[in-house]
Amino acid sequence: MPKPYTRIARFKDAHSFAEYIQSLGINLPFDELLQVGPQAPLAQPYILKNGCQIGNRFCIHPMEGWDGTQDGLPTDNTKMRWLNFGRSGAKLIWGGEAVAVRHDGRANPNQLMIQEHTLKGLEDLRTSLVGIHQAQFGNANDFVVGLQLTHSGRFSRPNIKTRLEPKILYHHPLLDEMFGIDPDLPVFSDTEIEDLIVDYVCAAKRANELGFDFVDLKHCHGYLGHEFLSAYSRPGKYGGSFENRTRFLREIVAGIRNAAPGLEIGVRVSAFDFPPFRPGEDNVGQPLEFKNENGKYPYAFGGDPDHPMNIKRDEMFAFMDLLESLDIELVNLSCGSPYYNPHIMRPAFFPPSDGYQPPEDPLVGVARQINNVAKIKERYPNMLIVGTGYSYLQEWLPQVGQYLVRNRMVDFVGLGRMVLSYPEMPADVLAGRQLARKKICRTFSDCTTAPRKGMISGCYPLDDRYKGLPEAEQLKAIKSEL
Ligand SMILES: Cc1cc2nc3c(=O)[nH]c(=O)nc-3n(C[C@H](O)[C@H](O)[C@H](O)COP(=O)(O)O)c2cc1C
Repeated sequence: MPKPYTRIARFKDAHSFAEYIQSLGINLPFDELLQVGPQAPLAQPYILKNGCQIGNRFCIHPMEGWDGTQDGLPTDNTKMRWLNFGRSGAKLIWGGEAVAVRHDGRANPNQLMIQEHTLKGLEDLRTSLVGIHQAQFGNANDFVVGLQLTHSGRFSRPNIKTRLEPKILYHHPLLDEMFGIDPDLPVFSDTEIEDLIVDYVCAAKRANELGFDFVDLKHCHGYLGHEFLSAYSRPGKYGGSFENRTRFLREIVAGIRNAAPGLEIGVRVSAFDFPPFRPGEDNVGQPLEFKNENGKYPYAFGGDPDHPMNIKRDEMFAFMDLLESLDIELVNLSCGSPYYNPHIMRPAFFPPSDGYQPPEDPLVGVARQINNVAKIKERYPNMLIVGTGYSYLQEWLPQVGQYLVRNRMVDFVGLGRMVLSYPEMPADVLAGRQLARKKICRTFSDCTTAPRKGMISGCYPLDDRYKGLPEAEQLKAIKSEL
């Protein structure tokens, strides 16, 4: 069935794009003209409280490639991705990619790990990234690089690609069923959590010794850190009240302040969540329904338990207050999860193989994230806020980004999928060069479908490195059957 949405590439001028936005009834402002030169909004440096300068307003989001070795070391494919991040021209590298703090927390058997035997490999990734950036842009003094630390929790597959080995904090009525989780599976005990906190602190100390400027304590996308925030039904000291649900974060932060004083800490958080979606009629995504005995859906951090498809910011604001009180300045706002509601976090025209046809124009999803970020930024003017979900904007990404930064609706424009197909986009925008239209990400979702089918991730349609691989043919065959 043809989709009822207009592809972005069809908009030939600002007028037609603006008209379409208006017809959707969304708030998605953009500048018609891009500014170039030292006064351009996207070229402005950002100065952290510690005096450190970040040279412009582009950030590269963490992007894993399912392409490490079995023992958690980077491969040539991993290194090439990090080099591309360095060549992008963006001055803030938010974490590189999710790196598991220990084996049982790997999202796949090829996820990187930070352990004694992988330190050399991670060090090489960081120095190569900084080296290429320095060589290309002449200066890496204003280039800030973090490492994203994770435990994949409910979505762990540490040993076999097809075998989920979930570590859950509580039984979730919808996700347990969706992912075949045994109702008798024991939850992570408080003692096991305490051990994990030690592993996080050790990982952060190591990242500091390797020269990373900050660590991101990942709290997004359904992984363990995020699951803590919605552990309303969990008894004991890590569940229930807001204080208990954030104890994991607070204890890791306290440990890091002690073990690696001076290391900056960032948090990437899913700032809102919706119920899981499933393919419905014509394969279009539909939210699953669930109400507890009080008629509520109390499983979405940042969601409204009375109206599960609405955002409710009270707890997110409390979370920001907490981050501020912990002296955490770096915040990267995302939402939802790629496993159960991918259309809200990665708006796409073409869904991944385990997804569904978009239930809304993907621009609606982009605008939802942009406006949510703006509301949070308005209330926390002194925190460094990175926004997410801009890749679907395609050729309009720079104009939207400039408007948002110029109007302090966000501090950094974070790039995810776009940087896989078109790593040089930030450099081109900042230099006032015309965009390379052939490299613009059209959200084919192969970068997600490939790993869902056991292959390495990458931009198969547009990146020559992946185009010629046998996996590219396999993907075409898989997609023709969908
Ligand atoms: C292939 C792929 C790998 C990703 N890996 C990570 C990751 O390691 N950590 C993370 O926080 N987000 C990860 N993400 C999410 C992106 O960082 C980003 O939030 C998402 O793609 C939406 O931004 P975009 O619209 O610019 O693509 C990944 C996304 C994709 C498509």
